[in-house]
Amino acid sequence: MQHLDSYLLQCKTRVESTMEKCLREPFELAPQLHEAICYSVFAGGKRLRPVLAYAAAQACGAHVAIADRAACAVEFMHAYSLIHDDLPAMDDDDLRRGKPTCHKVYGEDVAILAGDALQTLAFQVLSESDHPNPQQLLQMVQVLSRSSGYLGMVGGQAYDLASEGQERNLKQLQAMHSLKTGALICASVRLGALSVDGVSDQQLNQLDQYAQKIGLAFQIKDDILDVEADTETLGKPQGADVAKKKATYPALLGLEGAKQKMLVCYQQAINALEPFGEEAQHLRLLAQYFIEREF
Ligand code: IPE
Ligand code: IPE
Ligand code: MG
Ligand code: MG
Ligand code: MG
Repeated sequence: MQHLDSYLLQCKTRVESTMEKCLREPFELAPQLHEAICYSVFAGGKRLRPVLAYAAAQACGAHVAIADRAACAVEFMHAYSLIHDDLPAMDDDDLRRGKPTCHKVYGEDVAILAGDALQTLAFQVLSESDHPNPQQLLQMVQVLSRSSGYLGMVGGQAYDLASEGQERNLKQLQAMHSLKTGALICASVRLGALSVDGVSDQQLNQLDQYAQKIGLAFQIKDDILDVEADTETLGKPQGADVAKKKATYPALLGLEGAKQKMLVCYQQAINALEPFGEEAQHLRLLAQYFIEREF
């Protein structure tokens, strides 16, 4: 997938330069806070949510540049969710993106605040954008708040924690995955599309169907990698889900069953893109990357 590799790099470079601009100003009263934010944001990461935002804007006929703000906002939201996910009170993980987690370096207090600051920065970045269509910009703020709040990612995280050591059926597991990970992935696609002035409801609906399926496939793959990959490749502790008795697809369906389910989701995502032509090619390649990735 050489073509996708160069596209991933192009998007990563774009979003990282936008994030740098947003974080240019240090905070002299408590420099550790700014340092902790930058440590986590620029620690690497695949930047897949930004890439989805860019590719969705393209699928709606626009140039990638139109989605810079959307891409940056979802990555800030994601970075906050990871800092909090790793905290001792949550998953209690020491390693993220191959480096010590934020709280290991800066302490829990600063890590909590770094996450808080990134969350609000995500809304700031979106709301300060010069979108030509104020109605769509308002919709974007709504999409980001709903997807990351208690009926979205945070709700999914709460259900994940409440599910440790509990029996969960397939329906419950799917609900959990589509909230804790799927919601922000759907938001990434939707925000990319809404960056394009005049995007149609039909385009948005079709893209939503795609995003729901790849969102689920993405978290199933994350669960599979927790079993199959090694810590060095993953950049986060392998076997963490098993150790914490997390509710996961491999735990419920076995590895083969989880892989089957992931493939079905992939195919459904591709089918949802049928009305689109060549302009959605990056979205199609991304779906494949989501299920084939090694970390
Ligand atoms: C990890 O997300 C957390 C989940 C939602 C499963 P990513 O695999 O996208 O993490 P980074 O950003 O590339 O480190
Ligand atoms: C995290 O899911 C999802 C969010 C951060 C919202 P996981 O707990 O499975 O993510 P990893 O495996 O630690 O990256
Ligand atoms: Mg977690
Ligand atoms: Mg975790
Ligand atoms: Mg995981």
